[in-house]
Amino acid sequence: MSRLLRTGLNAGDSAPMAVVGGEGVYFHLSDGRKLIDGSNTGGGLGHRHPAMVEAIRRAADTPVVNEGWTWVGREQAADDLMTAAFSGEEDWVGAVRFCISGSEANDMALSLCQALTQRSALATRERAYHGITGLSRSMTVQPQWHGGLAVHSGGSKLPAPMAPVRILPAPDGAIYGAPANNVPPREYLADATRLLSDTAATIIDYTQGGIYYDGAYQDEVARCARQAGSYWIADEVVTGAGRAGRWFASRAPKAVLTS
Ligand SMILES: Cc1ncc(COP(=O)(O)O)c(C=O)c1O
Repeated sequence: MSRLLRTGLNAGDSAPMAVVGGEGVYFHLSDGRKLIDGSNTGGGLGHRHPAMVEAIRRAADTPVVNEGWTWVGREQAADDLMTAAFSGEEDWVGAVRFCISGSEANDMALSLCQALTQRSALATRERAYHGITGLSRSMTVQPQWHGGLAVHSGGSKLPAPMAPVRILPAPDGAIYGAPANNVPPREYLADATRLLSDTAATIIDYTQGGIYYDGAYQDEVARCARQAGSYWIADEVVTGAGRAGRWFASRAPKAVLTS
């Protein structure tokens, strides 16, 4: 039996297949097999990509500096990110903060919005996954993605949220395998502005729950959020850093649907 309390505080004991190494798209398993890694969100460049190995080696060869100090390498990394990903958008991009995990980044962004608005409620869409700690966990609205926490809350219940949670409908017809449905978002989001009216932030991701959508959905949710005074958080943990074929999925091509 594994002594490790795994991510999501899994309730079960069964260990998944054990990975002992990796190269490119492959995992190497403890039983000698090679397996194509098609599910692992951590491996955008593939396993042990030489450029990534070299960057991490260089990072390890620097002083350990906490946030009380200005570390020139960190300042430079923020500037580099701005130049690479937000060039020409300086009118709205303010600053960069580096975090250890997606859960931490979302938790911090959500609580910053609570502080700015003095509101506590937060909004996401159906089937969202935003992380497993703090406010990020509260915005993960599918019980099974709370792993053992849901089990310990009594079967498939969610653990109590840390803030009131408003849930927007998912985009119609965008669930993988569902029949296409070209109902304009304005119709099924007709109640969204009211739902968002007391929220500090609206956080949206672009793939979770098997939901893949075009810009029309995002444009409409963003319009309602702006009207409600709810800050917009684009959760790009899965889709950021070029994984969607552009720097961020939130820059979806303009929607082709018209209402
Ligand atoms: C959309 C989304 N947001 C947040 C997270 C949480 O990221 P992390 O596991 O780094 O805490 C994930 C993780 O899969 C995710 O898919």
